[in-house]
Amino acid sequence: MSADIEQADAPHQTFDTLLVIDFGSQYTHLITRRLRELNIYSEMLPCTMKAKDLPFRPKGIILSGGPASVYDADAPHADPDLFEMGVPLLGICLGLQQIAWRISPDNVVSGDKREYGKATIIAQHHNTPVDRLFEGVEGNVWMSHGDKLSALPAGFCTIASTENSPYAGIAHESDPIFGIQFHPEVSHTPHGKRLLRNFALDICGAKPNWTMSEFIGREITRIRDLVGDKSHVLGAVSGGVDSTVAAKLMKEAIGDRFHAVLVDHGLMRLNECAEVKKTLGEHLGIDLTVVDASAKFMAGLSGITDPERKRKFIGNTFIDVFEETVIEIEKTVENTANAGKIEYFLQGTLYPDVIESISYKGGPSVTIKTHHNVGGLPQRMIDGAGLKLIEPLRELFKDEVRELGRQLGISEELVMRHPFPGPGIGIRILGDITLERVTIARQADHIFISMIREAGLYNQISQAFAAVDTSKVGDKRVEGYIIILRAVVTTDFMTAEAFKFDMDFLMQVSTKICNEVNGVSCCVYSTTSKPPATIELQ
Ligand code: XMP
Repeated sequence: MSADIEQADAPHQTFDTLLVIDFGSQYTHLITRRLRELNIYSEMLPCTMKAKDLPFRPKGIILSGGPASVYDADAPHADPDLFEMGVPLLGICLGLQQIAWRISPDNVVSGDKREYGKATIIAQHHNTPVDRLFEGVEGNVWMSHGDKLSALPAGFCTIASTENSPYAGIAHESDPIFGIQFHPEVSHTPHGKRLLRNFALDICGAKPNWTMSEFIGREITRIRDLVGDKSHVLGAVSGGVDSTVAAKLMKEAIGDRFHAVLVDHGLMRLNECAEVKKTLGEHLGIDLTVVDASAKFMAGLSGITDPERKRKFIGNTFIDVFEETVIEIEKTVENTANAGKIEYFLQGTLYPDVIESISYKGGPSVTIKTHHNVGGLPQRMIDGAGLKLIEPLRELFKDEVRELGRQLGISEELVMRHPFPGPGIGIRILGDITLERVTIARQADHIFISMIREAGLYNQISQAFAAVDTSKVGDKRVEGYIIILRAVVTTDFMTAEAFKFDMDFLMQVSTKICNEVNGVSCCVYSTTSKPPATIELQ
């Protein structure tokens, strides 16, 4: 449903767009990332997409790599009509083999030997437009393939080779169709971004105008057109980057017809509610309702130790409280000068969530545990309250959301904030949740994060926190809980490494927590990566 609404007027309608067709490579989304870094708007769609169903006309098409061989019985193949659209086309790895196989299946050899790792590319010049792809591209490239070309497809010439791959780069002699065997999107191909730039700008002629300052203006217009000048929009906020940026954008677009709700479940970080009130309500001028439902959450959580049950209880109670609040807000809305109906529900979906849902063969991600802070909220708002979804960040990657936040005047501290799970401290107390334990977790977390900030390490770490292990250690003199400190570095939160602190720093944190937080007698640091561990401990 949301996709239909959004597709009607998504950025691909107003920005020159490069389409990336996904054949299931773990690197596909990086092609889109690199193009965006070059200020070229790009979207990814699965290889099952037919040319006739494309929701927009791309300036160029890139066929990604993928794990299949063109000879596999169930191999995915690009829609032949994509080749007839008259737009430039670049095939990467399997994408190259798709191009060759289409012209003649004998041009591809099934890989008996995989080539994985670095290779050195030698560009071949023809003094014709085919040279444009490799302009300024030389040196190392990253290979990861089984199949490769055994012969040039008819009408093509070689534009690059490596020791193992004589047809590492090919181009059609008259049409703008190119293929490369290596991966320009990975950081191990130092000139890969230059190659993508050559393709997008020089060959496709795309305008490099994808910037967040350009996006804001267009997005505000899009939101205004969609919402109209009477309807109201409602959104849940958490104090995190995504919901704050989405809320501020709505405020810019429709002013006080946007209403934010913060449900305080009593499991937020130290002083967090007060800070959100100040930031969203006072600084950003957003109409914010804060509901203190902590007593209801704490009462219901008493005795629950299983983390999945905690998540479910918190998620469901969140929805109950939210729905009650909506009824109150609706009454207020009806009586204001701005009177109108609440028709939309704001959701801070980001592009990685979209990629995950459309990625061919599941993509790089697998759902590990029930995650969503407000699990089920959008669906219940759609079914029950008859609200339509609005997702203004749906096409953005996290770093683009951060940049958008800066452009909207949100402070650097908030923009760079580590993620915080919806169930909050509730899943950072390993065992039964009590007020005493919540207080301990909050204080320990505050000390850890403050010391990380003071040491200038905050932005080097993707996420850090303190959790409480509720089994007590020590003896009668100093019996107390164990605090587990965790800090990880990750780009996608699907895999992560523990941050390598200096031992002296960890000892100082440990001393301060044990000295200052009543009820703690020991601190440990979790050094396990994900996998096998997860970022949250449960
Ligand atoms: P894990 O623990 O799965 O965490 O490695 C990956 C990222 O997701 C966050 N996380 C959650 N976020 N509700 C949320 O909103 C949850 O129940 C939840 N569990 C984990 C975690 O903090 C990390 O950023």
